[in-house]
Amino acid sequence: MSEVVLAEACAAPVGAGTAMPLPAARGPVSTALLAVLREERPSAELHGAAQEWAATTDSGGAGIVTDEDAQLTLTLLYELHLQGLAGVDDSWEWNPDLLATRALLEGPFEAALRALVELPEATPDTLQQTLETMTTAEGGPGLSRHLARTGTLEQWQEFCAHRSIYQLREADPHTLGIPRLAGGPKAALVEVQADEYGGGRAERMHSTLFGHTMRELGIDASYAAHLDRVPAVTLASVNALSLFALHRRLLGALVGHLCAVEMTSSLPCKVYARGLRRLGFGTAATLFFDEHVEADAVHEQIVSRDLAGGLARQQPERTADVVLGAAVCLAMDELGAQHMMDRWQAGQSSLRGEGPLKPAA
Ligand SMILES: [Fe+2]
Ligand SMILES: [Fe+2]
Repeated sequence: MSEVVLAEACAAPVGAGTAMPLPAARGPVSTALLAVLREERPSAELHGAAQEWAATTDSGGAGIVTDEDAQLTLTLLYELHLQGLAGVDDSWEWNPDLLATRALLEGPFEAALRALVELPEATPDTLQQTLETMTTAEGGPGLSRHLARTGTLEQWQEFCAHRSIYQLREADPHTLGIPRLAGGPKAALVEVQADEYGGGRAERMHSTLFGHTMRELGIDASYAAHLDRVPAVTLASVNALSLFALHRRLLGALVGHLCAVEMTSSLPCKVYARGLRRLGFGTAATLFFDEHVEADAVHEQIVSRDLAGGLARQQPERTADVVLGAAVCLAMDELGAQHMMDRWQAGQSSLRGEGPLKPAA
């Protein structure tokens, strides 16, 4: 990576790492939550609204994955444990009514994620090979190929708006695995995360690099700036990661999720960078993707062999959950990509609402 280009790209600040702005509600539960967070209604009313939602929802169905109200509510409740919500008191993080509401939504959400995937058998000895087979399977809707060959600037902006919900805080949920690991797997996760956070240099943090891509594309790169525009399927993929990250019993799934992220990144990032260059963008826009081509070719070895393999040898009972986390990550990526491709092939926007995205400052 050119130091000159990096310095130029980083001359203007990117707003990653600030509190999430409060979005518009998408139904009765998120309406109640936002009123509670603004301290306009008592928190018990939120739990009541969530219980009503649970009583009228098919808790065994996959509908919760595309339920706008449920996914936005989960996003806000999880954010209280991460960057926090703008103007909202931090003490809401451990409010019993909010935690009970989260549990009410998480039960059917976790069940829906488990029902979404078929899990290949794996043992601690075969886990690395199983992960390699899962992450090199052909198929999928061809999102990276489309964006490389024919994607328009508007489609690129939409793609980055979807990705920004995770990418502007890239690595944070996986980092929650560090204190729950020991020995070799802990050292492996720290090694990978250190790269994600720029090896001690804020301007090299991957979240910062993604902000530069967004700004080059002309859209607002401040944290969660496009939250109101992204649909439930996008929020659900980030919420699945938060679910794995915030429950220690799902440590294996968190590790498996990171494996799928790292093991499916290097080649697509090369393809994405090609797409940006086709549209005339330079290194400031492609840095994020260029960086991942090389870094993730190394990371995929560390996470599959030392992190996942090491954890499975230490705690064999977590092996199946590693496979679960990887499978859920792949399935949610595919659902999101399919959503974008379906909308674009129908000549529509993949986002909620009308009009262009908020422009770069
Ligand atoms: Fe990264
Ligand atoms: Fe990585």
